[in-house]
Amino acid sequence: MNFQRHRRLRRTASMRSLVRETHLHVSDFIYPLFFVEGENVKKEVPSMPGVYHISLDLLEEEIKEVESLGIQSIIVFGVPGEKDECGSSAYDHNGIVQKAIRQIKEIAPSLTVIADTCLCQFTDHGHCGVIENGYVRNDETLELLAKTAVSQAEAGADIIAPSNMMDGFVAAIRQGLDEAGYTEIPIMSYAVKYASSFYGPFRDAAHSTPQFGDRKTYQMDPANRLEALREAESDIAEGADFLMVKPALSYLDILRELKDRYPLPLVAYNVSGEYSMIKAAALNGWVDEKSIVLEKLISMKRAGADLIITYFAKDAARWLKENQ
Ligand code: PBG
Ligand code: ZN
Repeated sequence: MNFQRHRRLRRTASMRSLVRETHLHVSDFIYPLFFVEGENVKKEVPSMPGVYHISLDLLEEEIKEVESLGIQSIIVFGVPGEKDECGSSAYDHNGIVQKAIRQIKEIAPSLTVIADTCLCQFTDHGHCGVIENGYVRNDETLELLAKTAVSQAEAGADIIAPSNMMDGFVAAIRQGLDEAGYTEIPIMSYAVKYASSFYGPFRDAAHSTPQFGDRKTYQMDPANRLEALREAESDIAEGADFLMVKPALSYLDILRELKDRYPLPLVAYNVSGEYSMIKAAALNGWVDEKSIVLEKLISMKRAGADLIITYFAKDAARWLKENQ
């Protein structure tokens, strides 16, 4: 009989480990943190068990824990005290994100701090840009984004991660950073960001639900693949240093295509809805959280991601240690 014995390489744990093609390391993870104004706040986000709003007086404790787990990178989100039409607190020297970044860099100078650059948490209408007649204006928004990025770099951000899906945002931010002297600060572009229902719990966490309409005039249609390549290509041409695909799990095919085509570090954003679905099932005892999370994370790497932004980063760091 002539057939292949694939099972030969699966016989023992050490044999399986010998032929394993993909690995997870704690250095793959980027951990998202939400900072708020106020004192002594550590409030769990109802739709995201295990994720907290943290005030700046409790920041140090959190950062120490992240560092002690070996996590090397975080992405910072802010929920401001006040919002207005044009999101002024996004580019305020004393905005919540700017204050948080300054504090983090003081406590943990070697932690890589990524700033999410968008306006939706800071605008009273909850859209990612300036509104005119119900439509998000592209070029007017670019100026504010560049201002936001520069103020984040000034505060000490190591990487700028624009997430707002305006056309030309990488070019505008690159120019803004360069003119301000931040030529060495890389841009991690949310290049391929779909208009996804998987962001629901995040909008709870960031208080950034659009007050009217949706984000479909700027975020991508989940049905489109070629458009993702166009988005990635224009961002590369504009000077992006990293590319991101968001969400991750329903878009593993897009991760693979980008990895095969473009020689840039590729980031998968394992978004809030993907987190909360697993959490809910795990809290009900319907799935085994540890093994299901590690399986999901390895699938993102297998699909081509080099880095993963994930709310599971702290748990996964612990589990990887246990498995050693
Ligand atoms: C803001 C932003 C969003 C996320 C990251 N940055 C939400 C959105 O576009 O509504 C989503 C993160 C998540 O769901 O975990 N532009
Ligand atoms: Zn936004």
